[in-house]
Amino acid sequence: MRHSQPQSIGKITRTICTPKVETGKTSPEKQVKPIFVKQELWNRFCSEFQKLYGKPLIKTKEILGNLEVLFHYFLKDPAFFKCKNLITTLNEPSFDKGLLIIGDVGVGKTDNMKCFENIFQPINSFRFKSYNAKSLVREYEKCASPMDKDYFFKDKDRKQIFIDDIGSENNASNYGLFDVIGNIISDRYDKNQVTYITTNFATSANSVEETLSALGEKYGHRVYDRLFEMFNIVTFTGQSLRK
Ligand SMILES: Nc1ncnc2c1ncn2[C@@H]1O[C@H](COP(=O)(O)OP(=O)(O)OP(=O)(O)O)[C@@H](O)[C@H]1O
Ligand SMILES: [Mg+2]
Repeated sequence: MRHSQPQSIGKITRTICTPKVETGKTSPEKQVKPIFVKQELWNRFCSEFQKLYGKPLIKTKEILGNLEVLFHYFLKDPAFFKCKNLITTLNEPSFDKGLLIIGDVGVGKTDNMKCFENIFQPINSFRFKSYNAKSLVREYEKCASPMDKDYFFKDKDRKQIFIDDIGSENNASNYGLFDVIGNIISDRYDKNQVTYITTNFATSANSVEETLSALGEKYGHRVYDRLFEMFNIVTFTGQSLRK
């Protein structure tokens, strides 16, 4: 076992799901009912995780820190800006930006985001479709005609998408080399679309700056510069949960 002891459920619900206590009086017409409240989203997340992966969600302090930042982000809770896993020194965090999740291998980047994808699927404003960077390259390489390429890019032209594991893929080879992921990222920047991406730390020192520089080297300075405006930079910590 490489993870530390699970926390009690009471601690977890206090960490992520504390319902807001209403203080001042608000007139009924000004109250907007949220689509999700934290407690409900948390319950859905735990049961969806079990359903998808056939095992209960482990809830160590570190895992909760990783999840907390995502819950606050998706729920647009201002507590997001205070999360310890949110990097606030390199750019300005904002709910208008997407997420760049950086973490070590096996810490839950992919499976947690896919769990959110499933939960949010029926809700238009939350919905996002997930792709894997290497699979995108393979899919692009299969495009036999300009029409196929058009279709490929149209499919990624969605309000919100998640690209898992960027940085690990090669350039696509299809009548010349083509940087599929870098091009999707800069297209989405131009269209002001929200993107969620995950990547692994580039070095064993787990440095966010070095990881961003490595992405800059891979995708070029234009993409590197856009990362700061497009993404909230979030780190996932802890040890691999693979058993
Ligand atoms: N909170 C959790 N409770 C139980 N299992 C978990 C939890 N988070 C992740 N896992 C499991 O740990 C394994 C690794 O998770 P995942 O593949 O999401 O990691 P990752 O960060 O994407 O790793 P990589 O960088 O190698 O792609 C998976 O089997 C996943 O189901
Ligand atoms: Mg992964």
